[in-house]
Amino acid sequence: MSRSAHPVPPDPALAQAPLTIRGLRKSFGGRTVLAGLDLDLRAGEFLALLGANGSGKSTALRCVVGLETPDGGTIRVHGHEIGDARSAQVRRSTAMVFQQIHLVHRRTVLDNVCAGALGRLPLRHSLAPVLFPRALREEAMACLDRVGMADRAAERAGRLSGGQRQRVAIARALCQRATVVLADEPVSALDPAAAEQVVSLLAGLAREQGLAVAAVLHQPDLARRHADRLVGLLGGRVAVDTSPGAVSEADLAALYAPTPGREAPALPAPGGTDQETPALPVSDGTDQEARTVPVLGGTGQQAPALPVPDGSDQGARAVPGLRGAGQGAPAGAALGTAGRERR
Ligand SMILES: Nc1ncnc2c1ncn2[C@@H]1O[C@H](COP(=O)(O)OP(=O)(O)OP(=O)(O)O)[C@@H](O)[C@H]1O
Ligand SMILES: [Mg+2]
Repeated sequence: MSRSAHPVPPDPALAQAPLTIRGLRKSFGGRTVLAGLDLDLRAGEFLALLGANGSGKSTALRCVVGLETPDGGTIRVHGHEIGDARSAQVRRSTAMVFQQIHLVHRRTVLDNVCAGALGRLPLRHSLAPVLFPRALREEAMACLDRVGMADRAAERAGRLSGGQRQRVAIARALCQRATVVLADEPVSALDPAAAEQVVSLLAGLAREQGLAVAAVLHQPDLARRHADRLVGLLGGRVAVDTSPGAVSEADLAALYAPTPGREAPALPAPGGTDQETPALPVSDGTDQEARTVPVLGGTGQQAPALPVPDGSDQGARAVPGLRGAGQGAPAGAALGTAGRERR
């Protein structure tokens, strides 16, 4: 049976490029981490983000979801520039999946997935998950079904293995109806089989549901097997941008070479331009023609008639920690404080 785990109504705004980053700059304490990063992420694409430790991968993703404030440059999500006045739509359309999986362990798997929708629900739902509407619970079940976890819906999240929890975190991003899914080392803590499963799932979401998916991976072979596109950061910029078939060992070796040049050179003083920053070799990426933007979704009515746990263990007690994925929270940062991976 075909199931929609992502019943997003057609929205003209979503037809615009899911993610466009131009000239992104970020420094910490005078050390430049991002030195004018340009990156596009297309609908239906699974992009693997590679690069040595400290090359700025997490910083770039964190800037996109609002966990870091860029020093300069622009980030557009479906054409909307991210800034102080972030629209609710932009906030909801981007989800981040972290290496340290942020689930509320004492809550059920289903509650955790439903929490992905908190950004579009009234506040009372975060206080008493038993109030999650039936339609949402059915949608969450469809999301769990998509990641192969529907049969664990009623279990407490803390009982799952790491790989299972990561799949639940991905289901939560689906329940958020995110169209841009960013995953920061989603498989670094998983065994090889679980890592393969999770990366394959992310690739499938891009190809089958038209999501724009970018994942930081530290396993180039895994990236080559599953990704449509490999992007490598070096010196605070994109140094490799090519298809898995075209990437060379030399390209990869350069990304991870233990040279002092790994960190970005200092940026010009404020008011200057980026042009003094040395150019880095960037492949021409000729395999990267724009793709047709798939129509997302369908409607919630396509949600399957999956058995939905009645949440009888959920009482009406307040559940701190199930709040914050949406209203007022950074885009896509899931589950309140748990989702805000502050340093
Ligand atoms: N909040 C922060 N305060 C100070 N320095 C930071 C902060 N966040 C990141 N950095 C620094 O910025 C650099 C890039 O960090 P980032 O986490 O983006 O790297 P990364 O490419 O994700 O590395 P890894 O592969 O180890 O996860 C590092 O030198 C790091 O110490
Ligand atoms: Mg990182």
